[in-house]
Amino acid sequence: MCSPEGFAVRYEINPWMKDQVGRVSPELAVMQWRGLHAALSAVARIELMPANAAWPDLVFTANAGLPLPAKKQFILSNFRHPQRQGEQAIDRAWFAAAGWQCIELPAAAFFEGAGDSLFDAQGRLWLGGGPRSSEATPRCLAEVVDAPIQTLVLADPAFYHLDTCFCPLPTGGALCVPGAFDAASRERLARGFGDGLIALTPEEANLFCANAVCIGERVFMNRATPRLAQELAKLGLAVTETPLSQFMKSGGSAKCLTLSLDGWMYRGSA
Ligand code: ARG
Repeated sequence: MCSPEGFAVRYEINPWMKDQVGRVSPELAVMQWRGLHAALSAVARIELMPANAAWPDLVFTANAGLPLPAKKQFILSNFRHPQRQGEQAIDRAWFAAAGWQCIELPAAAFFEGAGDSLFDAQGRLWLGGGPRSSEATPRCLAEVVDAPIQTLVLADPAFYHLDTCFCPLPTGGALCVPGAFDAASRERLARGFGDGLIALTPEEANLFCANAVCIGERVFMNRATPRLAQELAKLGLAVTETPLSQFMKSGGSAKCLTLSLDGWMYRGSA
């Protein structure tokens, strides 16, 4: 995670940020971030990146890149928007200092890290693209990642990163926002997960329920509906709600604020 002191909405690069410039309460944002940090600290060891006020979206560490823990390699992001491109040098320095081998993709291949690349419980890597990561990115990633790759096309600007509309569950299924994908991608998800696919309602999608952090049997998210909590309970998964309204003004929530360094997202039990 990255300390939240530099966080603000200072520009608009996704629909959630529209008309939110200057509307974040810094105090409430820090309180909400601490709530998430405390909840996750109960089940995970959290490493912290320092805040940097020049880069207000640095707090969304999911976008730093994609860690490949088995090889201690880190595939650095190539941010699409100039407003975030300065984060790359900060991420590179942090990961290099922590002993990761940083891998850079060709500059023409936009890639926004774990925001657009998620491993599922079977070890398949699901890639989302369109709004942020480019169409060519999966080909570049296939050269470094030793896992079956499935690509998905994001068709709704509100769900501009894959982790805003798709969340593989440790039990094998996944949460998804059907309307966020084009028809071929919806088909691919249905084939990939069968009955294990839980479609979120529009209300759940807008609460950022898909932007969840899974650790063992726990699923951390901004807010759940009773229906979703029940669906997850049937799978033996318990929801922890941790309100993140200030970060949603920037288009991010629990999952965006974290980056798994050791693969717990798909290892099953914490
Ligand atoms: N304001 C940030 C952006 O638009 C939010 C990033 C959210 N991160 C994520 N993994 N979905 O880039």
